[in-house]
Amino acid sequence: MHHPCVTIPAALVEKLATARHVVVLTGAGVSAESGVPTFRDAQTGLWANFKPEDLATPSAFRRDPKLVWEWYAWRRETVAKVAPNPAHHALTAMRGRFRQFTLITQNVDGLHQRAGSEDVIELHGNITRTKCFQEDIVVTEWPDTGDLPPKCPRCGGLLRPDVVWFEESLPEGAIASALAASRACDLFLSVGTSTVVYPAASLPLEARDAGATIVEINPQPTPLTPKADFVLSGPAGVVLPVLLKHVPA
Ligand code: OAD
Repeated sequence: MHHPCVTIPAALVEKLATARHVVVLTGAGVSAESGVPTFRDAQTGLWANFKPEDLATPSAFRRDPKLVWEWYAWRRETVAKVAPNPAHHALTAMRGRFRQFTLITQNVDGLHQRAGSEDVIELHGNITRTKCFQEDIVVTEWPDTGDLPPKCPRCGGLLRPDVVWFEESLPEGAIASALAASRACDLFLSVGTSTVVYPAASLPLEARDAGATIVEINPQPTPLTPKADFVLSGPAGVVLPVLLKHVPA
């Protein structure tokens, strides 16, 4: 693939030099260059090939728990086989360069953490964790009875991935911290997200209402594009490392 060179506008370079609290919201696009499929890209997106209502809702799980468990097991295997890309690494390096830095992700793949990022706010859970469908508590071990899905060792209920499904609410602490950071920051980067899924998509809007500068990094336009102060149109793995070079060490 050929990428035109990324130019960072002087006004953004100035902003990067003076920002005190930077918030970054990431979506599936940040992991695309690692080989993790996004959701809504035509052809390659998961929701172009699977129906969310069959796989990512509590009623889908009630209807066919084995199908849902196996679909997530397949996604878990994909994630285990890939590695963080330059976008994840650039975000890890950015952390120490600002007085305050908050990394919020909608991704469930854990790639930010594998790239060394700490205190990542996971809005939609993590595919590598498992919880009890009955009790809604995280379970780390269960007897291998061959059941799919496996059974909760405490209550015998079905085990499910610890991710947020459609029709479910976000983890309370995660969305509360994400909102507070978004309202308090002076620079907000929206990276690799289509900004169509709420409440995550409200975070850049909250930041903007509170006076922050909004930067979008995405090869495609999104509903946020017309509201962003700066749009860096390109793949995150190319744009973020260039952006990092403009952040004073
Ligand atoms: P989407 O699949 O909706 O959007 C991915 C975005 O990444 C698109 O806007 C692409 O243009 C962009 N993109 C693709 N490749 C990129 C690259 N190399 N660099 C930067 N951007 C790139 O994914 P999300 O916005 O993350 O929810 O979707 C939000 C939520 O919808 C997900 O968290 C998931 C899904 O249903 C749950 O699982 C609860």
